[in-house]
Amino acid sequence: MDKLLIVGGKPLRGTVQISGAKNSAVALIPAAILAESTVILDNLPELSDVAIYSEILTEFGAVVERKGDQMIIDPSSMRSVPMPNGNVKKLRASYYLMGALLGRFGEAVIGLPGGCNFEPRPIDQHIKGFEALGAQVSNEGGAIHIRAKELRGAKVYLDVVSVGATINLMLAAARAKGVTIIENAAKEPEIIDVATLLNSMGARIIGGGTETIRIEGVDSLHGCRHSIIPDRIQAATYMIAAAATRGDVVVDNVIPKHLEAITAKMLEMGIGIEEMDESIRIIGRPDYDPVDVRALVYPGFATDIQSPMCSLLTQANGTSILTDYVFSGRFKYIPELIRMGANIKLEGRSAIITGGQLSAADVQATDLRAGAALVVAGLTIPDGITTITGVEYIDRGYDRLVDNLAGLGAEIWRE
Ligand code: EPZ
Repeated sequence: MDKLLIVGGKPLRGTVQISGAKNSAVALIPAAILAESTVILDNLPELSDVAIYSEILTEFGAVVERKGDQMIIDPSSMRSVPMPNGNVKKLRASYYLMGALLGRFGEAVIGLPGGCNFEPRPIDQHIKGFEALGAQVSNEGGAIHIRAKELRGAKVYLDVVSVGATINLMLAAARAKGVTIIENAAKEPEIIDVATLLNSMGARIIGGGTETIRIEGVDSLHGCRHSIIPDRIQAATYMIAAAATRGDVVVDNVIPKHLEAITAKMLEMGIGIEEMDESIRIIGRPDYDPVDVRALVYPGFATDIQSPMCSLLTQANGTSILTDYVFSGRFKYIPELIRMGANIKLEGRSAIITGGQLSAADVQATDLRAGAALVVAGLTIPDGITTITGVEYIDRGYDRLVDNLAGLGAEIWRE
């Protein structure tokens, strides 16, 4: 099993380029199933989740070619085959196959998704939406069976604001008969990215990025070329790592608007920030103020960044409170930070963090962003070697993490 080793204490300096967004890529790849000719995706990140998704599409009969950061998907020869097991169980976002296969073939059998299981993650809102469009859904032996004679547009009110359910319903509704309205939709930038791709394929979707999305179904969709938006979570992780090491880093190829919640919190802590058109410069300072952070749906502070943020808050002078209103139990990394000497108490869905120096330890990443939190923590520790296992989680979502950090002057390597 691979591990990451870090000798920290060196301020990060230089420029890091941010790749395309994982959470867009894993929705855009299945969205290509809905087309009847070739879809080209540019700015694709180099991630294990992306590699698994391309294998899954091949198993359905698509022809998938990878050229650098480009993926060329020819879905014309695809067929709908039941996929109760295998690769679909390796990643959470395989749930998008349900909406995409349903939209193209009127049926799908997909094993319940795996992925980062930091807490139970229900998909009842996805299913409620498919049923509203006229599909019959059953759970047989751990696989979801979905079938519809004809998908018909409908009004769907999501009881919880869900990124996955919003995207899945857009996929299923794009080729349905009539108009679908999704109310209480999620507004994350990745949703706009999927709507943009679908519209370039000939779909009629308006309101992506707002709480009401209107989808007028069309008979068929065609191929197109689309460039994936930058990964705001990777970007925020490097911003946090730069600040935590008191470095000076330009995070390049970002959309600063997508990072407003994190830049606001960093400014509140006293971190120097310069915003350019497509980059953000982080200027570390010796002392940081404690802050209270609430992870919320977009445009609030992203739950995906609360774990690395927790590591940054261990560097503040005083006590901060970090609360996750999206996933109440996304705190499995905290015992590992405590093993590194952090002073953190968990109370319900809040972590109470009192700043202080951390110390090197052997720790285990329990999910993707937990891994990022441990890397940030390790980068702050000058004495000893921090060893992180569970690297396979980090590979799911961080494109060339070790090379990028080493390029900024960090002493980090993989064994
Ligand atoms: C997406 O997960 C992301 N994954 C997650 O990224 C991210 O943490 C999450 O959105 C929130 O931003 C992908 O895009 C592939 P949700 P998703 O449905 O869509 C509840 C990462 O580290 N809920 O928006 O699965 C749910 O339990 C990750 O990159 C229901 O109750 O999240 C949660 O409390 C991991 N029923 C809340 O809604 C449902 O049917 C939001 O979840 C669906 C969700």
